[in-house]
Amino acid sequence: DWTMGAFRAEAIQRIRDQVGSGRVICGLSGGVDSSVVAVLLHEAIGDQLTCIYVDHGLMRAGESDQVVTTFRDRFNIRLVHRDASDLFLGQLAGVTDPEVKRKTIGRLFIEVFEEEQRKIGGADFLAQGTLYPDVIESVSATGGPSVTIKSHHNVGGLPKEMRMRLVEPLRDLFKDEVRALGRELGMPEAIVGRHPFPGPGLAIRIPGDVTREKADLLRLVDTIYLDEIRKAGLYDKIWQAFAVLLPVRTVGVMGDGRTYDQACALRAVTSTDGMTADVYPFEMSFLTRVANRIVNEVRGINRVTYDITSKPPGTIEWE
Ligand code: XMP
Repeated sequence: DWTMGAFRAEAIQRIRDQVGSGRVICGLSGGVDSSVVAVLLHEAIGDQLTCIYVDHGLMRAGESDQVVTTFRDRFNIRLVHRDASDLFLGQLAGVTDPEVKRKTIGRLFIEVFEEEQRKIGGADFLAQGTLYPDVIESVSATGGPSVTIKSHHNVGGLPKEMRMRLVEPLRDLFKDEVRALGRELGMPEAIVGRHPFPGPGLAIRIPGDVTREKADLLRLVDTIYLDEIRKAGLYDKIWQAFAVLLPVRTVGVMGDGRTYDQACALRAVTSTDGMTADVYPFEMSFLTRVANRIVNEVRGINRVTYDITSKPPGTIEWE
């Protein structure tokens, strides 16, 4: 007779037993896993927990504010919010290779995280949102149990030099169970039902070099797209939906004039684990409505395409 309520109580007891009076830090990304870890730990150990949110400036519109408001104001969790967007965007200037973007962001993330954790005087434990599939994957990849999580998949992948013991309360859970636990903990649906979002954020949705201006432009497009998806009641039917800013200018016509502006692509897929994915079959009327809004409301974009590639052979992200 296993229920989420029982899991919650057991997990809290296990955390207390493991941590004692020690101090714990947790890297918050705004995603479901680290959010649930933070709230669960806070329930178990209160102010022995400090969360660090490294803001790389490549989040969706409004998401950084939402993280701060939710965790600091609503859950009263100690939270360090470090706006490191100048640093990240500065180091990304001129970088076009997708893997170099990822490595740059991963390296800076660790640097900034370490700096912030030193500022608060360090901690005894590092909390991570490792899930059961991550455990399986690292076991099969290394031939034995591993404490490191996929560097590719999570901003929480921190180096061993940090020498903190790990607290991983979600190690036995699958994603849907993590969501159920989040609901059990009273977390808002906007967080527990959120689509996956890649650690490198919008950087891998801007083919070519990344600038603040491009990220701002993409945020406008992305907001309209997600807004229409929610209004149509489709958000929960889709695994991931997002816009990509294309490094292409095309000719268009607006009023009496000719435009020569950027093109964007929209992507939406269904999936159960991100390993394979199918295109979401929107009604054409939905797509044309979104396209009209984008071209009319976002200065600088004059063409919208819909990506109809499944995975494989495509990947979900463009980079
Ligand atoms: P792909 O593009 O490989 O994406 O089909 C599969 C899933 O992984 C996410 N993704 C990432 N997540 N860091 C992350 O944390 C990354 O570098 C990264 N690249 C892809 C992607 O959003 C999808 O859910």
